[in-house]
Amino acid sequence: MKNLFEKVALNDKVTLPNRIVMAPTTTWSSNSDLTVSNQELAYYQARAHDISMLITACAHVSANGIGFTDEIGVYDDRFIPGLTKLAKTIKHNGVKAVLQINHAGNKALPELIGADNVVSVSQIKTDMIPNPAVPRELTDEEIQQIIRDFGEATRRAIQAGFDGIELHGAHGFLIQNFLSPHFNQRNDKWGGSLTKRMRFGLAVFDEVKRVANKYADGSFIIGWRLSPDEHYADGLRINDTKVMVDELIKRGVTYVHASLTNAVTAVPRDTDGKQTYVESLAAEINGRVPLMVAGMLQTGIDAQKALDCGADLVAIAHGLVTDLDWVKKVRSGKNDQLHLSISQDELRQLYIPDGLWTTIQNSGSWFEIK
Ligand SMILES: Cc1cc2nc3c(=O)[nH]c(=O)nc-3n(C[C@H](O)[C@H](O)[C@H](O)COP(=O)(O)O)c2cc1C
Repeated sequence: MKNLFEKVALNDKVTLPNRIVMAPTTTWSSNSDLTVSNQELAYYQARAHDISMLITACAHVSANGIGFTDEIGVYDDRFIPGLTKLAKTIKHNGVKAVLQINHAGNKALPELIGADNVVSVSQIKTDMIPNPAVPRELTDEEIQQIIRDFGEATRRAIQAGFDGIELHGAHGFLIQNFLSPHFNQRNDKWGGSLTKRMRFGLAVFDEVKRVANKYADGSFIIGWRLSPDEHYADGLRINDTKVMVDELIKRGVTYVHASLTNAVTAVPRDTDGKQTYVESLAAEINGRVPLMVAGMLQTGIDAQKALDCGADLVAIAHGLVTDLDWVKKVRSGKNDQLHLSISQDELRQLYIPDGLWTTIQNSGSWFEIK
């Protein structure tokens, strides 16, 4: 049986001291020029201990790929000094620092970039944000540019001192737009068959890998986050996702990270329901690379269950936002003492950035507010 507090090899150069990772959490709190703010540094500093690896909020790789207000950028060299502080802050206790990089695609916010600048694989708008724009279909030339943007973002992450990057292939952003039969309506080399729908994501991966080979040593982590399927009748299903995962493993992905509603119980759409997402993905990956999973792992008991289902790493978001001692308490079996809610009085001691608190308050039941 796997244990949360045992070492785990990410690849032959990197071994993590335990299986607990901080999941990516957007803070809505960059400086107004989209550089890393002091509030963000304090937020990460307070959480970068006891876990083995921390994945940052998503940073946008292109100026037209912004999916959240006050979201850090990585699309220009001017971001490198702030990102350097961020990497150093995360690494100060030996925690591995991974920068999540993203292009928001049809989820880019029209009020930030202008409705005419919202782009995606095809002209299909998302239903995942309020007031989305109908995106403009990317030209072949623009697609090639975005692929290079992911590479440049990776170079900046390396120069800033990050141990790795995570490609955001989940949550209906641009990489997933391409893979999705619902959003991808193209008939050229970027759409149609599964092979063509995978082409963009794999080209992004290959470019990132090329850049990592050039600027980093073999220990550089390249993770891939995915949502295994979509709720649309003609949407992505787990069988396509598994083919994509196999291709990524062949190409040298360091880990696969499944973002799930519930990592212990949720089952894939249009299947007989006998296997959970985690069991299904673990069977497909079969130990070739570590499988990281996120979703409602509130306590150490939940996290252990995810390992028992076949996960190798657990990614925790809510738990580490609301309790800075989540790992210490779990290690000593004090699951009943975890703080799983948040109150106005605790904001300072939890180093919650102002923008994150505003979002939490405006997001209904997303967090339990005391
Ligand atoms: C405040 C907050 C911000 C988030 N931002 C991101 C993000 O930038 N990128 C991402 O892939 N997921 C993001 N997520 C999703 C989490 O990484 C995670 O998958 C989800 O919250 C489920 O894990 P949990 O139940 O432990 O919170 C965010 C979640 C929270 C709570």
